[in-house]
Amino acid sequence: MAKITIIGGGNLGTAIAEGLISSKHTKASDITVTRRNVSLLDALKKQGVKIESDNSKAVKGAELILLCVKPFQIKDVVKEIAPSLHSKQILISVVSSVSIQDIEDILRKKKNESGMSIFRAMPNTAIAISESMTCISYNNANSKQIQTVCQLFDKLGKTVVIEEKLMEAATIIGACGTAFAMRYIRANIQGGIEIGFDANTARTIVAQTVKGAADLLIKKGTHPEQEIDKVTTPKGVTITGLNEMEHNGLSSSLIKGITEAYKKIGK
Ligand SMILES: NC(=O)c1ccc[n+]([C@@H]2O[C@H](COP(=O)([O-])OP(=O)(O)OC[C@H]3O[C@@H](n4cnc5c(N)ncnc54)[C@H](OP(=O)(O)O)[C@@H]3O)[C@@H](O)[C@H]2O)c1
Repeated sequence: MAKITIIGGGNLGTAIAEGLISSKHTKASDITVTRRNVSLLDALKKQGVKIESDNSKAVKGAELILLCVKPFQIKDVVKEIAPSLHSKQILISVVSSVSIQDIEDILRKKKNESGMSIFRAMPNTAIAISESMTCISYNNANSKQIQTVCQLFDKLGKTVVIEEKLMEAATIIGACGTAFAMRYIRANIQGGIEIGFDANTARTIVAQTVKGAADLLIKKGTHPEQEIDKVTTPKGVTITGLNEMEHNGLSSSLIKGITEAYKKIGK
């Protein structure tokens, strides 16, 4: 089993470590997690994960290295670990808006000529329950390395390989998408309360209904409009509700939200 080092044991880094252990992808003792304030990693330590504050030491012996720090921190971290990296290792960055080229440039400046494989992965917060949608792109990787990285994220949800030029678009619909979906769900709950439910019951009904709707598409491979047609009776209640939502700009506001967020990313 591959030894994995996660640099930056924050929200995402910790969730990845926990997902890899609970899915039995990796033994806790094969995972090393770093952060400067290591006292905040006690829960992982208790599970048998190795905890380190020295990033250079942590990457030695690792086959896979995941960079899970904030965008403004990645430059210093890559500079720090560059002398300790070698060509057989795989570097995976989950950091938003930092390209593979950016990482290669930092490595080159540090005279790291390892030619190692660099991947970018864009998961979402559902990685904490192994239900992430993770988009992956790479440079200079062979099929075995691509398989290794996809298998890792497959254990934490679903994976698609995309061209790196689509990574920002993937961030919007895959990662920001969790927040967009939450707002849709929240609005349904508010409506549910207004027509008679208490908040908890409304939340249960709405969350399961949205989950079921998504599962219909995932498991049956249907188009949303096909599923809508099954629910809408002529002159009925559903089509009345849907059309009222559309008159008020439901689809248009969602599309505009996505395109405006895309314009903003990386600026
Ligand atoms: N949230 C999402 O949906 C999502 C989705 C995809 C990608 N991302 C990306 O994931 C990255 C991490 O996000 P997050 O929410 O997990 O952030 P976070 O909770 O702030 O985690 C970053 C971690 O990095 C550690 N760190 C900072 N400098 C370090 C250093 N020099 N060496 C070792 N560890 C260091 C910090 O701990 P110390 O301060 O103790 O060192 C902190 O625990 C971001 O770049 C974000 O763009 C997020």
